[in-house]
Amino acid sequence: MRLIFFLLLTVHCLLATAQPWYHQTTIYQIYPRSYYDTNGDGTGDIKGIIQKLDYIQSLGFETIWCSPFFGSPQKDFGYDISEYTNIAPEYGTLEDAQHLIEEIHKRGMKIVFDMVMNHTSDENPWFKESASSRTNAKADWYIWRDKPNGWKSALKQKGWHYCKERDQYYWASFLPFQPDLNYRNPEVKKAMFDVVRFWLDKGADGFRLDMFNSIYKDSLFRNNAASRKAVMEKHDAKEYRKTVKGYMNQPESFGFANELRAVCDEFGDKILLGEVFGNRQMIRRFLGEEKNDGLGLAFDFEMLRFKFKAKYFHELIESMEKDFPAPFNPVYVFSNHDRRRMARRLKGNLDKAKLVHLLQFTARGTPCFYYGEEIGMTDVRMPYRKALDPVAHLYPAMPRFLVDMAGETMNRDEMRTPMQWDTTKNSGFSTAEKTWLPVGENYKTINAETEKGDENSMLNFISELLELRNNHPALHSGRLELIPANELPSNVLGYYRSNEKEKVAVLINFSKQEKRIQLNVGGFSKLLSTDKNIAEHFERTIVLKSYSGVVAKLR
Ligand code: NOJ
Repeated sequence: MRLIFFLLLTVHCLLATAQPWYHQTTIYQIYPRSYYDTNGDGTGDIKGIIQKLDYIQSLGFETIWCSPFFGSPQKDFGYDISEYTNIAPEYGTLEDAQHLIEEIHKRGMKIVFDMVMNHTSDENPWFKESASSRTNAKADWYIWRDKPNGWKSALKQKGWHYCKERDQYYWASFLPFQPDLNYRNPEVKKAMFDVVRFWLDKGADGFRLDMFNSIYKDSLFRNNAASRKAVMEKHDAKEYRKTVKGYMNQPESFGFANELRAVCDEFGDKILLGEVFGNRQMIRRFLGEEKNDGLGLAFDFEMLRFKFKAKYFHELIESMEKDFPAPFNPVYVFSNHDRRRMARRLKGNLDKAKLVHLLQFTARGTPCFYYGEEIGMTDVRMPYRKALDPVAHLYPAMPRFLVDMAGETMNRDEMRTPMQWDTTKNSGFSTAEKTWLPVGENYKTINAETEKGDENSMLNFISELLELRNNHPALHSGRLELIPANELPSNVLGYYRSNEKEKVAVLINFSKQEKRIQLNVGGFSKLLSTDKNIAEHFERTIVLKSYSGVVAKLR
């Protein structure tokens, strides 16, 4: 009897703690073009990533997501794929990709590939064939119509594009050279699942999924576009969502998530991280409503426009806990290759940035972290007229509200500049005369090497924070309990993380003033603080300096 009870208890405990690895991991996003250039052509490459794996591992990251390096004419720098099972020559070869996977696995780390399934490049042979006539074997692989309906692209531009050979229009959710595939055709689905299997077979640990909620379009092409004029006049984000629903968040896309999950399950426990837009209910549907059997994780980009206030983050965590309770897991993301870097958002105040990262790595969820943020890299401002980013050229024509929604001007070159490694030429990124994008002028002070030697640097803070998270299961897989705002001074955020073995408090002062915090429980030992002078042990009371935070364990 006792034995049975013991067994049941063990099974219960195992089930209670059995979270997939990607719910506990930390993700470091690399933009390959800008990471490290080994052949002196001014653009980063796969060999460069391999050379920097020890650096990434020494920071404490366990998983790497690489933006696309597949065959591509690079009109949208890899998000326009012409060869799904090959590597673009400027990044290397298939052998390099294989080597990258092996080197990452050798270190006990994971690699996430960026899979663009919604659309291909217009130079993809699939599209070339499809566009060549109305009767070819791939005639139905893309979304073709005799006449456009009123849909506008995700960027509020023309989304239907004329093709003379067919005397028809094709649909492109993003930019004109990125035609959308037609997943209502089973051959397309099969072809894409073959691509997925190809990379899983090579050892990829899963995928970040580009524009995943645009995969299916309304089967009747219903025109739910509000008139452009109305949208522009209202400057209303809700209106925007209504506008795009004909080719976003279609119910078939939720089912597709489950199918893709099943394909990945053939290869083991793989990460599927969705780029989906819409409200939380919508996101949950992609995750597999009740059981989390769809995509394992999905972004909610709303938080990229965070307000630096305790109230904002309290509400963010509260709603994440409500909308993504276990077995779901929130994703905390504060920058990426499409949006402003943290340093710019916070007007250069890196003390503030440290607090946002503190939260990012200690709240319950999977943190997704953009390269260069570990050194507090800044956006490099550039005139959008000269931008390489095709989106920047749409900027003047873009409705103001869309620009505001993104919270920034849309020249994405600014946040994609070369990683700043050291004080040498081109910040040690490349030996080329000219790098593909300019290196930030501040590289003599903001770079990985210099920061390594400064105990107060962002770099050392991030690696301390990761070490802490990795060593404390309460932080990477424990429960979260918010401390009610009325038990804390104004503009202070607090929460506990706990498991059977330990309870850890996170306290963050978002205010310019020093704050005295009085807690209901006593006896803490400091684990980490942004202010080095905080006492090693404290009882019920702790004083937090302006813009500072602490992680402490309950004794
Ligand atoms: C989202 C990606 O993050 C972005 O960089 C890209 O331009 C579009 N999808 C189109 O693929």
